[in-house]
Amino acid sequence: MSTELTRKITLNDLRRAREDGGRVAMLTCYDYTTARLMQQAGVPALLVGDSAGNVMLGHSTTLPVPLSFMIEITAAVRRGAPLAFLVADMPFGSYQGSVARGVRNVCRMVQRTGCDCVKLELAGSHLKLVRELTDAGVAVMAHLGLRPQTVNLMGGYRTQGRSAEQAQEIVTLALEMQHSGAAALLLEAVPAEVAKAAVDATRIPVIGCGAGPHCHGSVFVTHDALGLTDHPPRFAPQLADLATPARAAFAEYVRQVVSGQYPGPDQQYDMPAEQKAKFLHDGMTNVVSESYE
Ligand code: KIV
Repeated sequence: MSTELTRKITLNDLRRAREDGGRVAMLTCYDYTTARLMQQAGVPALLVGDSAGNVMLGHSTTLPVPLSFMIEITAAVRRGAPLAFLVADMPFGSYQGSVARGVRNVCRMVQRTGCDCVKLELAGSHLKLVRELTDAGVAVMAHLGLRPQTVNLMGGYRTQGRSAEQAQEIVTLALEMQHSGAAALLLEAVPAEVAKAAVDATRIPVIGCGAGPHCHGSVFVTHDALGLTDHPPRFAPQLADLATPARAAFAEYVRQVVSGQYPGPDQQYDMPAEQKAKFLHDGMTNVVSESYE
């Protein structure tokens, strides 16, 4: 059944979901073709995550992902899904160092991609940046909880907020982000109780990524849900197995080429009969005679 988007989805739709008890389905997306399919399927919100560094580029962390790459693929997703609410991830190194640098790079992202919102992995030291961006009219999604860009500091990828103290810190930070103007929150890998406390303490939409059922929307790395990665996290739903048919299709192509079945008569271009006769007879005669003169 097609539920193609028919109007532009905006931040107000996320706010409405929060007010009305609705749920926003968000998926990560990294290219034009997939974005088109997602818009046709009615996915209202897309995140061009820096997880592109893992699933598109093959890096083991998101740290090497350049800003220029994120801008390029975010613009491609925008072209494929002009109606979706589009969130662009700011990669590691693009908003650290100074507030001015962060603002400059976020403005580059917004101007060059047409995204509706930017997502940044944030700590308390970023509150001024959030305020400056908000004052400039940018919708900021504050990514709290597990922040993959701090993997080296965390010593690995770990669920966050499992102690009462850490849980309180996350909820306090969520409130501070809201006070600084954040338009939405994304909570990654936190216990459901922590997400619920953050939802209850704030009044902005909260998107969960492995954060239980109390958030106003959900997101995960799409490849994990389509059977395209080897170790999907346990919170990713298994929506399809695209790897098996894709592998079978590639193997079938190899078989057809090796056996001579491809390219067949229907998979080549024709010449008009009379031109073909002329080419094969006169043309080839000329070529042969010229080359031997
Ligand atoms: O980069 C990403 O895809 C993300 C989501 C998994 C939340 O940040």
